[in-house]
Amino acid sequence: MSEQRVALVTGASSGIGEAIVSRLTESGYSVFATGRDHARTSRLCERYPGIEIRIGDITDGDFCSSLIADCVGRFGRLDLLVNNAGITRDNLLMRMKQEEWDDVIATNLTGIYSVCKACLRGMMKAKKGRIINIASVVGVMGNPGQSNYAATKAGMIGFSKSLAREIGSRGITVNAVAPGFIETDMTARMPRQRKREAAERILLQRFGQPEEVAQVVTFLASG
Ligand code: NAI
Repeated sequence: MSEQRVALVTGASSGIGEAIVSRLTESGYSVFATGRDHARTSRLCERYPGIEIRIGDITDGDFCSSLIADCVGRFGRLDLLVNNAGITRDNLLMRMKQEEWDDVIATNLTGIYSVCKACLRGMMKAKKGRIINIASVVGVMGNPGQSNYAATKAGMIGFSKSLAREIGSRGITVNAVAPGFIETDMTARMPRQRKREAAERILLQRFGQPEEVAQVVTFLASG
């Protein structure tokens, strides 16, 4: 079995996920990347030779279980899981449709439940592993129009802390990273005025770059 460390990254086809893939491949990881969009996810193979991709939806529990089995089947192990896939469906709660609530919960929260659960047995047997969940500062501070999203990101933080307490003694760490506003497709959809106001509240007066989040993830994965 190869000694090269193996990482699984969800939502890898764009933004923060792709930056994480880029950093991890540079750092010598074998990367198993997943995304929902066929064309964008497939392009990763051209950019990062040697990576393995799977296209599917993390709201599908069977897909999540098969991901871990396929990753271990392909690379023989899984050292690092990065739960990065996530969506927004912004609306004021007064106007929020049930499906806008349900979609965000299913993707951002139930998705990490399914993927984490599927990887635990292998990591516990190996007595080591790293799980990193991409939460958001919105889960700590709140944001009008994002009660669904903030609930999932706050939930991810509680989930990560609880799971860390369950499996820390087995040599597995669980961390949540809570970035502020980052320049990706997700924030590109924000109205210009809201983006300007948000940037003014940031001490550096600018949105972060995906690579800055990827650096933190790589640091937490090391060791
Ligand atoms: P993005 O929209 O570029 O990337 C999201 C990724 O998740 C895409 O690859 C998409 O295909 C995937 N995805 C979404 N739903 C999925 C599903 N059901 N099944 C499989 N894959 C799915 O956005 P970005 O900004 O790169 O977001 C990545 C993560 O970072 C998300 O969890 C987001 O909540 C979080 N985040 C983003 C911030 C920002 O300002 N952009 C700030 C804080 C956290």
